[in-house]
Amino acid sequence: MSDPKSDTLTEAQLAVHWKEESYYYPPASFIAQANMTDGGILERFGEKNFPECYKEYADLLTWYKYWEKTLDTSNPPFWKWFVGGELNASYNCVDRHLAENRNKTAIHFVPEPENEHIQHITYQELWVRVNEFAALLRDFCGLKRGDRVTLHLPMTAELPITMLACARLGVIHSQVFSGFSGQACGERVADSGSRVLITADSYYRSGILLDHKKLADIAFDKAKEEKVVLEKVLVWQRHPGKYSAQTPLVQGRDFVVNDLLPKYRGQRVEPERMKATDPLFLMYTSGSTGRPKACQHSTGGYLSYVAGTSRIIQDIHPTDVYWCMADIGWITGHSYIVYGPLALGASTVMYEGVPNYPDAGRPWRIAEELGVNIFHTSPTAIRALRRAGPDEPKKYHYHFKHMTTVGEPIEPEVWRWYYNVVGKGEAAIVDTWWQTENGGFLCSTIPALAPMKPGSAGPGVPGIYPIVYDDDGKEVPAGAGKAGNICIRNPWPGLMQTIWGDPDRMTAVYFERYCKNKKSKDWHDWPYFAGDGAVHAADGYFRILGRIDDVINVAGHRLGTKEIESAALTVPEVAEAAVVAVPDEIKGRVPELYVSLKPGVTGDEALARRISKAIETEISPIARPRKVWIVPDMPKTRSGKIMRRVLGALSTGGNAGDITTLANPDVVEKIRDLVSRG
Ligand code: WT7
Repeated sequence: MSDPKSDTLTEAQLAVHWKEESYYYPPASFIAQANMTDGGILERFGEKNFPECYKEYADLLTWYKYWEKTLDTSNPPFWKWFVGGELNASYNCVDRHLAENRNKTAIHFVPEPENEHIQHITYQELWVRVNEFAALLRDFCGLKRGDRVTLHLPMTAELPITMLACARLGVIHSQVFSGFSGQACGERVADSGSRVLITADSYYRSGILLDHKKLADIAFDKAKEEKVVLEKVLVWQRHPGKYSAQTPLVQGRDFVVNDLLPKYRGQRVEPERMKATDPLFLMYTSGSTGRPKACQHSTGGYLSYVAGTSRIIQDIHPTDVYWCMADIGWITGHSYIVYGPLALGASTVMYEGVPNYPDAGRPWRIAEELGVNIFHTSPTAIRALRRAGPDEPKKYHYHFKHMTTVGEPIEPEVWRWYYNVVGKGEAAIVDTWWQTENGGFLCSTIPALAPMKPGSAGPGVPGIYPIVYDDDGKEVPAGAGKAGNICIRNPWPGLMQTIWGDPDRMTAVYFERYCKNKKSKDWHDWPYFAGDGAVHAADGYFRILGRIDDVINVAGHRLGTKEIESAALTVPEVAEAAVVAVPDEIKGRVPELYVSLKPGVTGDEALARRISKAIETEISPIARPRKVWIVPDMPKTRSGKIMRRVLGALSTGGNAGDITTLANPDVVEKIRDLVSRG
């Protein structure tokens, strides 16, 4: 990590030329009702009060026992928060709201088919369903605290119910995005050592009821290959009482949850008293090398952090109807569909399907019908909705007080459409920058206290002290107009505890880059290296440029180039594969793939299709390359490294730069010719 890559220009090294955008101010109507209007918060969360300031977040929760030590730094960089404290996440997100809000909707589940009724699940009903399912997990599966369970669940209410049932028992859940393939799921089952897989028979996507259970069979086999044999596969039915997958159940291994549940009717499960430092869940993400890694998130630190940021940055009040259009299969959904909003006792909306189904007016109809007043989505979704129906929002009578963007940089022009058309000029917008590893927001404006600046995330949120370093570890000061590597100087409660099963990777990837003294137990010596390029403007706002490692951000989701390349290499004809990221109008970035073939093999369209297919099967359709170029050879350095920068330039029609140092400069013209012919 520390030796600068010779064959790639980091985003940080690129000159930054962009026009400073002007501010937009939050409407008075927003400020009048906002949770946080006290400018003193920045002082309260300033370095002088660190780490005790985080009590303000932890106090939003109900604890069985208060902690004795706020932050333990004795084993860097494995920080421990709220040491000695005890709580249960399920209790905090469900039980404690019953006294005052038993009959209030906790989850609005919106099925994709528009003729199917929206389910309004009250806190009471959620409590009953979580308890009954927890009893099933405990008594039928024998699950207990510390066990891992993999979830491969689509966006139906059964997903948060399953997560909260696990949390009740202290079982560590690991939800794999439902759009991921059976193989990808199986790898994660094996890596986490899960005994049980919880899946669904089917779900709706673009009007089609997909057979999802067939992926469980593939996952089972894949995990078995890696010597992890699942004891049970639990299958939720999309239409209770009716099995809707074509794939048959495997006798003695697969069990339909809806058939088993009546046995547990009326059962109640006492929430486990978990230590604040016990893990709550695992969430896999892509890194620049090797296999996906599982970020291990804690119970007390994580829940405090998402509750605090949901209140201050998302401005969630218990009376709000909050809709985050992400998938719970990503960290955004864990933090800001499930744990944050439910910890605050709000009503959270879950939508099963694609935003454009059956037409681009769908999200706005949902917002109107449910009275959604907080809306949270990604630039990719915004670009897609804008293209499909630029005037649709005007047709519907909803009113957002607050909107969020997350996951990728947003172009100022797209931001302005979001503000003027989606938000009708009435909403405060926050652009929130963070990562799977972080648990919750790192940079954003506090909506009632700071103006918005299109394209910029904002300063560090309370208690987060970001800094931009150049490649030599010198600070790039605010207003220097130069990009660098954004880091967070301090620990915070939402930061993952470790990489599951691979603590060295935690240190190597996130802390070694700028660690001043590896023996030090002082957190000041251990800045967190985020792996993003950023510019720190004179006003203190950060503009995030994107990843500086071999990770492509497609539609707000990180894909490892190595993962895609290894998937391509499962096709026997492929000798070498290289992925580059190219700009895409809707998805921000998409992969293009270059492959060279083994001697004696010739390529054609059919082979290119087979390679694409392999990537879909191994990873997911979201990783599918826009184009597979079959090339005579890869441009290489003399030491044999593939020059991805040159390929990237060819894909985008840019300047390939100096190629004289290549071992095979001639191949560049040949590839350029091929690419220009399409
Ligand atoms: C990467 C993290 C955090 C939840 C969703 C993605 C990019 C994230 C922003 C933003 C510019 C952003 C970064 C980051 N990113 N938010 N507001 N502006 N870029 O989680 O899959 O872990 O990806 O997404 O490059 O490192 P993730």
